[in-house]
Amino acid sequence: MLLSSYRLGNLTLPNRLVMAPMTRSRAVDGKPIAETATYYAQRATAGLIVTEGVQPNAVGQAGPFMPGLHTDEQVEAWRVVTDAVHVNGGRIFAQLMHGGRIGHPDVAGHHPVGPSAISSGTEVFTPTGMAPAPVPRALETAEVAEQVAAFADAARRAVEAGFDGVELHGANGYLIQQFLSSSANQRTDGYGGSTTGRIRFAVEAVEAVADAIGPERVGIRLSPGGQIQGIVEENVPVLYGELLKALPDIAYIHVMVTADDEVLMGLRKAWPTAFILNPGGQIGPDESTREQGERWLANGADLISYGRAYLANPDLVERFRLGLPLAATPGRDTWFQTPNGYIDHPSYQH
Ligand SMILES: Cc1cc2nc3c(=O)[nH]c(=O)nc-3n(C[C@H](O)[C@H](O)[C@H](O)COP(=O)(O)O)c2cc1C
Repeated sequence: MLLSSYRLGNLTLPNRLVMAPMTRSRAVDGKPIAETATYYAQRATAGLIVTEGVQPNAVGQAGPFMPGLHTDEQVEAWRVVTDAVHVNGGRIFAQLMHGGRIGHPDVAGHHPVGPSAISSGTEVFTPTGMAPAPVPRALETAEVAEQVAAFADAARRAVEAGFDGVELHGANGYLIQQFLSSSANQRTDGYGGSTTGRIRFAVEAVEAVADAIGPERVGIRLSPGGQIQGIVEENVPVLYGELLKALPDIAYIHVMVTADDEVLMGLRKAWPTAFILNPGGQIGPDESTREQGERWLANGADLISYGRAYLANPDLVERFRLGLPLAATPGRDTWFQTPNGYIDHPSYQH
């Protein structure tokens, strides 16, 4: 099943493997470097690549050395990446990730913003190491629309840069999930309180992006009930059930295993288009496996995303096809920033 083709929006994917978004923190001035084109091109046999998180505006930058899609220079730099992937036969979506309260003035040069002036209570990456997450400035009601518009502007730039589409990062405790959460969002205007209020930012952002570039080029990532970065959500099946009902029919939802199977299967059944499942959840103890992928496909998922397995297995599709052993997940010391451990993982040596 994993190796069968699938029609996603207007794209034909040669297989059902998705390279999951992974921040690698190697950008310079918000621009991907030459090695980034090589890195994604090496992985172009994936049915679909979703890039590392990319900030839609400057205030949305969550960590150091992350790339953006809000200047002409960034668009030019990304075009090199998308060309390299397409020349190698692949398809690539940009993950639009607004950090919201996860950020730091030393990272973005701006004070982070969020639904409410409540810190995540965790630590964030800065250029000089980890630091306590600051208390964000709460967005005024009138300012929320600017953040929605930033997603749409970045999506337009993504298409200009040659991306096949975009995935909004609605998971892992960043801005979109902050609005969903009862711990991060204590607003009393139309963007908080009730379920309708909490889902409103996500729905407006997705609608704006779908209007900008077409719904068939849009997906959203979700971590229902996920608790990292200070997130608490109430009534997860209702919250996400209402969210899926309110979203326009975009190309896909990309769901992480952050709730039990019954909740996830309920969301699968409620969602009309493609359902991407990421078995590994929020960097759980073990990376997603082939067996988990096949099981979820048998249970109604359409596509399976692999994160850590893609770090050291650029030819993951081929390894699955031929039943070859996988290279082990590399140490965390190479996940971010270092020159090594990025484009130096070889394909299987026969
Ligand atoms: C180095 C690294 C960076 C990550 N960065 C992102 C990111 O930018 N956006 C995102 O949605 N998830 C991110 N994730 C989570 C992965 O997409 C994936 O959900 C997680 O690793 C679990 O799946 P796996 O077991 O297949 O690795 C990251 C994971 C890793 C290991």
